[in-house]
Amino acid sequence: MDSSPRLETATLVSREFRAPGFWFLKLRCEHVARHARPAQFVALDLPGGFAVRLPLGIYTAQDDTFGLLFKEWGERTTRLAALPEGSQISCIGPLGNAFAMPRAGERVVIVAGGLGVAAFWMLVKELKEASIDTTIVLGARSAPHLVGREELAAFGFPFEICTDDGSEGHRGTVIDRLRSLPRADVLYGCGPGNMLQALCGLADKHGITCQVSLEETFGCSLGTCWGCVVSVRRGSGQATGYPRAPGESRDLDFARVCKDGTVFSSAELVWAS
Ligand SMILES: Cc1cc2nc3c(=O)[nH]c(=O)nc-3n(C[C@H](O)[C@H](O)[C@H](O)COP(=O)(O)OP(=O)(O)OC[C@H]3O[C@@H](n4cnc5c(N)ncnc54)[C@H](O)[C@@H]3O)c2cc1C
Ligand code: FES
Repeated sequence: MDSSPRLETATLVSREFRAPGFWFLKLRCEHVARHARPAQFVALDLPGGFAVRLPLGIYTAQDDTFGLLFKEWGERTTRLAALPEGSQISCIGPLGNAFAMPRAGERVVIVAGGLGVAAFWMLVKELKEASIDTTIVLGARSAPHLVGREELAAFGFPFEICTDDGSEGHRGTVIDRLRSLPRADVLYGCGPGNMLQALCGLADKHGITCQVSLEETFGCSLGTCWGCVVSVRRGSGQATGYPRAPGESRDLDFARVCKDGTVFSSAELVWAS
């Protein structure tokens, strides 16, 4: 079956209030639900005449229904949170590449900061089915911001919880906590940029394979506006071969997060220092 992204109409099946400002919605759309891979996303066109679609990670996917876990950040997410059950939403997906699975016997640590957790339900499900030794490190500013545990806990992997203010779990960042865990063979990360940069730095220092899902600010979400580029090493499999200006010498190339990612290997990314 063709798993490439399609323009579909999704039906809002249920909406659940999770914590102040956080929502878990279920939408029925067979194409997205059946073909979604870990870390892929949808681009939603919401009523209100917004210039660009809203990109949101596909959190859960089962049968003909997929789930979204999000925060009310601004106008589009507030509009989405207010839609009544039964609403029809224009949806393009599943978009982006996906996390690659580890090899049998490798030890995995997943590192999620805040709503970065939304990238991981499908991966955790596949790791469970493949009997991969997995630990989940989940961090947030404070206890009320720790969302997404409900669905992940069902898989039974150990959790390490961290909060900046110590209101739940270990006081400190997910990176602090990761440093005190047994060495992983493979790291997966999603969350704020500074957390991912630190994670990639740690992985590269210790020679650990690391894949991160980036959430740059998107325009078109479809690879056409070049509004979401990041720097990657020249020769990277995800580099676009973006043309150089006459006389321009640069050691880097660019990749579009929406089309060439959102998942990148730490070995390919070049972070601004
Ligand atoms: C691939 C991808 C997947 C995503 N998945 C999710 C997801 O699963 N759940 C989710 O809640 N969000 C997710 N996001 C982020 C979401 O798309 C953006 O937050 C979006 O801009 C919100 O639109 P808005 O119109 O509601 O707010 P905007 O008008 O775009 O933003 C309102 C205000 O909030 C700030 N803001 C927006 N996003 C963030 C952020 N991520 N962190 C801190 N401040 C922010 C803006 O700077 C602005 O000040 C994802 C983004 C991408 C690119
Ligand atoms: S958001 Fe337009 S190219 Fe990525």
